[in-house]
Amino acid sequence: MRVLSGIKPSGELHIGNYFGAIKQLVEFINTTDDEVIVMIADLHAITVYQDPQYLKERIYELAALYFASGIDYNKAIVFVQSDNPDHPYLAWLFDTVTPYGWLTRMTQFKDKRQKLKNYGDIVSVGLFNYPVLMAADILIYDTDLVPVGEDQVQHVELTRDIAKRFNKLYGDTFKVPEYKINKTTARIMDLQVPTRKMSKSEESTLGCVFMLDPIDVIVQKFKKAVTDSGHEIKFDKQNKPGISNLMAILSAASGKSLKQIEEEYEGVSYARFKQDVAEAVVEVLRPIQRKAKEFLADPSQVDAILHEGAERARELSYPKLLEVLNKMGLYHHG
Ligand code: TYM
Repeated sequence: MRVLSGIKPSGELHIGNYFGAIKQLVEFINTTDDEVIVMIADLHAITVYQDPQYLKERIYELAALYFASGIDYNKAIVFVQSDNPDHPYLAWLFDTVTPYGWLTRMTQFKDKRQKLKNYGDIVSVGLFNYPVLMAADILIYDTDLVPVGEDQVQHVELTRDIAKRFNKLYGDTFKVPEYKINKTTARIMDLQVPTRKMSKSEESTLGCVFMLDPIDVIVQKFKKAVTDSGHEIKFDKQNKPGISNLMAILSAASGKSLKQIEEEYEGVSYARFKQDVAEAVVEVLRPIQRKAKEFLADPSQVDAILHEGAERARELSYPKLLEVLNKMGLYHHG
């Protein structure tokens, strides 16, 4: 089976990215013989303006965090999206089979467009078109499974629709992939506004725990996390969004089930509970931070890994691209 996922290097990585996406990938690599492809989605990042220097730093940082989190680059193919031009090429071909109306329904686009408008920024065609590029990322490798957080599910569903539509128009060409979310951590919420998804693009960072935040900052952010009225530690997303989110984080960080946590924390104060959540997260992040810093200190090693990854990726994607060009009646020198 082939598994693929990616993250945009458009800001600093947070624990939502880690528990929602990276951890799932690490588990695939460690527990299965599946072929895993891990992408640094820089072409997606630029759908909103990125300072070039900042972007380059984030690309290295994301690579370092992937490796430090346990993405074994000897087993998985890890590469930067812009290092494989087959993706945007296929995206253009998909543009021609994707109905405009499908894209107007994408909720992430609608949310982001609103935010950009509020800031007075432009809404690029690339932002609108972004899910088609994501479909190309996935379908060009005949991917079977895409582990993601909940906010990407609609894009994988669109990918399935594009695959089916292409197959119908030009004959059976693409596998129709499935997505996989981790039920507990598919949507880690903001610590300050627990009804809103934790996100690297919010103005206030107090509710967002970054993977490279200094340890004391992480502890402070959990200490200040918004809780709910009452004093019970009980999983109830509707009525106790703050506590439920912290429980999901503790569960992911410690491996304990939600039920176990409920039992263990019966009668325990919110303050003490938050302290324990912080400790569990610090325990996960401390070794990752240490390893990431080692990789960041040696960019030439990171370059070598990414270079090899891109070569392996292109070996897989190019024959597929040729097959598509052929099927569509386009011209190329074999
Ligand atoms: P991106 O960079 O926004 O997010 C990367 C991954 O992190 C997950 N995620 C979360 N999970 C749980 N709780 C949260 N608060 C949270 N925030 C983010 C996302 O669901 C995602 O899995 N378009 C993608 C990148 C991409 C991609 C792909 C993914 C490009 N091509 C092909 C899969 C397959 C994106 O912007 O993710």
